[in-house]
Amino acid sequence: MIKINNKIKEVIKRDKKVLFTTTREDFPFVVEKGEGDYAYDIAGNRFIDFSSFIGVYNIGVNGNGEIRRAIKAQVDKLTHPAFLDYYSESPVRFAENLLTMFPKGFGRIFYSNSGTEAIEDAIKLSKIFTKKKIMISFYGAFHGRSMGSLGLTASRTAVREGLGPFPNVVHAIYPNPYRSQFNTSDPDDCAIACIDHIEKNILSKEYSPKEVAAIFFEPVQGEGGYIVPPKLFVKELRRVASENGILLVADEIQSGSMRTGKFLAMEHFGVNADIYTLGKSIGGGMPIGLTIAKTDLGDTPQGSHAGTFGGNLVSVAAANAYLKYIKRNKAKLESMSKEKSRLIMKRLGEMLEKYEIVGDVRGLGMMTAIELVKNKSTKEPAVRERAKVIEKCFYNGLIMLPCGTSTIRIIPPLTMKKENIEKGLDILEQAISEVQL
Ligand SMILES: Cc1ncc(COP(=O)(O)O)c(C=O)c1O
Repeated sequence: MIKINNKIKEVIKRDKKVLFTTTREDFPFVVEKGEGDYAYDIAGNRFIDFSSFIGVYNIGVNGNGEIRRAIKAQVDKLTHPAFLDYYSESPVRFAENLLTMFPKGFGRIFYSNSGTEAIEDAIKLSKIFTKKKIMISFYGAFHGRSMGSLGLTASRTAVREGLGPFPNVVHAIYPNPYRSQFNTSDPDDCAIACIDHIEKNILSKEYSPKEVAAIFFEPVQGEGGYIVPPKLFVKELRRVASENGILLVADEIQSGSMRTGKFLAMEHFGVNADIYTLGKSIGGGMPIGLTIAKTDLGDTPQGSHAGTFGGNLVSVAAANAYLKYIKRNKAKLESMSKEKSRLIMKRLGEMLEKYEIVGDVRGLGMMTAIELVKNKSTKEPAVRERAKVIEKCFYNGLIMLPCGTSTIRIIPPLTMKKENIEKGLDILEQAISEVQL
């Protein structure tokens, strides 16, 4: 049982006094250190981490020894290469290594410091390459919170309130068979209805394809509720983009870098985007954003875009160590991810059968989630109940994160021991059974 001492209370009190509010109120987690499957707070409480610290620590909390050694070694040489104006070899080498993970034809990378910046870069590249302005993204999407990416984001009104309007963006409907907006819960019918809406409404009645630069989408919708689209949807989206001279941008900031068992979640769908964005886990715990484009799209005009800290050598060293690790262990990570995902989905499936409050369970690889509802037939989201489940898990030593309206993500580090996954799922089930009472 987790104990909250005065030290924890005091830090939270001081935080609230001097920092703008960013965190949720779900639980009082004041982090101190992490190792492997565990995170520790400043009171010495130990937690199993089912959040990977918001999808960042894919291979263990605080990365692994290789990543930490690479960071330390780089700090003693040079931290900031002024990559905006000077050349430096390691960002070039990392880019070359990273491109080997992409399909043929991907040849250029842009460095930034966060996911939202990677999306900003993708917006600019799409406009520069196509000389068009309009972008399509999806309801439920989360692409970041800076003023360009926020226009694409439509996961919750709270993140946009008071900040719009956001010109040049149209939102389309993402296929969610569990909560289909089209009177069908058949995944393929739902996919076709969403594609029809784009073709017959957006591209026929709102904006001509001549004006549309890009379609931005998440191969698994993350913050929006861990929604896995039907394969047919992704294939059809690719077709619509290609037939209309529109670029397809896959935001793999959360789903990429092995989270789903493949380097890119797009590999599950058998088609490619024209531009990819990476962030979060690719940095091995350090801040990095990457925008990766097909070579034949062209180059950016001199001086059109850059940033002081892009290509930061410490972030690149950490990302390079992470990349080396996953390249060396790719086959192992793939099979481990399959096995652990099966274990998680089996247990979640049992909870779906057993508890009225569990409405849906879903996932792709190790990107899995459970959606809570007040009633299985009305599917009314169990929002307060979800907060209670997360809180109970916390006090029993398990860190969990929400997404969507009433969903909880289950994203342990890919390397988490099976026994700890089981332990975490036991804690989750216990919390669900208590909240359901
Ligand atoms: C799919 C996706 N895109 C973009 C972002 C924004 O990344 P960052 O918070 O690093 O700006 C996130 C963050 O959660 C994300 O999940």
